[in-house]
Amino acid sequence: MENFIYYNPTKLMFGKGQLDGLKSELARYGKRVLLVYGGGSIKKNGLYDKVISALNEAEADDVFELSGVEPNPRLTTVQKGIDICQNENIDFLLAVGGGSVIDCTKAIAAGAEYDGNVWDIISKKTTAQKALPFGTVLTLAATGSEMNPDSVITNWETNEKYVWGSSVTHPAFSILDPEHTYSVPENQTVYGMVDMMSHVFEQYFHNVKNTPLQDRMCFAVLQTVIETAPKLLEDLQNYEHRETILYAGTIALNGTLQMGYFGDWASHTIEHAVSAVYDIPHAGGLAILFPNWMRHTLDHNVERFKNLMLNMFDIETEGKSDRDIALEGIDKLSAFWTSLGAPSRLADYDIGEDQLDKIADIAAKEMEYGGFGNFMKLGRDDILAILKASL
Ligand code: NZQ
Ligand code: ZN
Repeated sequence: MENFIYYNPTKLMFGKGQLDGLKSELARYGKRVLLVYGGGSIKKNGLYDKVISALNEAEADDVFELSGVEPNPRLTTVQKGIDICQNENIDFLLAVGGGSVIDCTKAIAAGAEYDGNVWDIISKKTTAQKALPFGTVLTLAATGSEMNPDSVITNWETNEKYVWGSSVTHPAFSILDPEHTYSVPENQTVYGMVDMMSHVFEQYFHNVKNTPLQDRMCFAVLQTVIETAPKLLEDLQNYEHRETILYAGTIALNGTLQMGYFGDWASHTIEHAVSAVYDIPHAGGLAILFPNWMRHTLDHNVERFKNLMLNMFDIETEGKSDRDIALEGIDKLSAFWTSLGAPSRLADYDIGEDQLDKIADIAAKEMEYGGFGNFMKLGRDDILAILKASL
């Protein structure tokens, strides 16, 4: 293992009825609140009304609203939120939604306390030193944003989409009630499960020696999602399956699995470049790209691939080489995601060859930050090869 410091101050409030605790949490953080939410799902499923009544009970003086946060949240929306915070002296932000709403809220919270253009923070020219406090009510199991400091924001004008984060952008608290995820439609439920599995893969693929406990924790999350996914899709309002998946999504990316090493993260960077050009769901892109990243990097450490695959799927090993087993596992992974309803080719989103060079350039630019390709270093040619294999 490498040395590490683990810091995660988010108070996790998990389970049925935990929204009851919102009132006392809000009471700690001032009276002028900005409520941030997405395109209206929380109005349809009744959560909006419950949150408003908790805000009233907490005697919030003024509640301002920023609605319409896009899936793949945009810089323009972040800026709108910053303007509200600065003009209205907001004390506290409350994000109610999925990863996009939470990520947007993080950028608003940091941007409101930054004397300059928030894009400096998002594009990592500078690190956020201060942020307004914020809490979350999560409605979709996927990103882990509810218990990590990261945020992903798109500048649609320049086709850039970056992950950024800082020690001041952990949510103060996050409320996770599985019932709030009952209304997540089937396709978003699938994307969420693909995303959390991908987060585990990104972390599992590293070159650090002696991580037996971390490896087994990765396998446990993956096995749990693989076992639960088909059952949940049969019964989208099953409390226990929603609960299992909600918890898995948080554990997959709250730093627990990544103690003692930093994972690869190339597939995420390539996907972010794809969705900076084509506005596709993040995990739809991952379902297509990840198996092709795996095929491309397999020979870097065949044994690590083989161990992963044998811990996820039943594979007959007799008479097969490690490489054959690993390749069969990658095919099984792709088939598993397809069986859930995830896409498997860029063509499924009408993405052809014409923009691949541009996407490769965007992804390659991120390499300048040295933040990805930690398992196997990639060059622009590798990125292009992975994209082409994904057509
Ligand atoms: O906007 P509303 O109306 O709320 O609808 C959303 C949206 O259309 C809907 N939804 C959410 N909860 C619902 C619901 N519909 C019905 N009932 C509910 N309870 O689902 C749609 C997708 O929501 P979104 O928040 O975009 O999904 P997700 O949580 O997958 O977030 C995706 C974003 O997170 C970033 C991605 O790049 C993408 O921008 N990521 C953030 C990470 C992080 N902060 O750590 C890591 C991830 O790897 C990822 O990159
Ligand atoms: Zn992801």
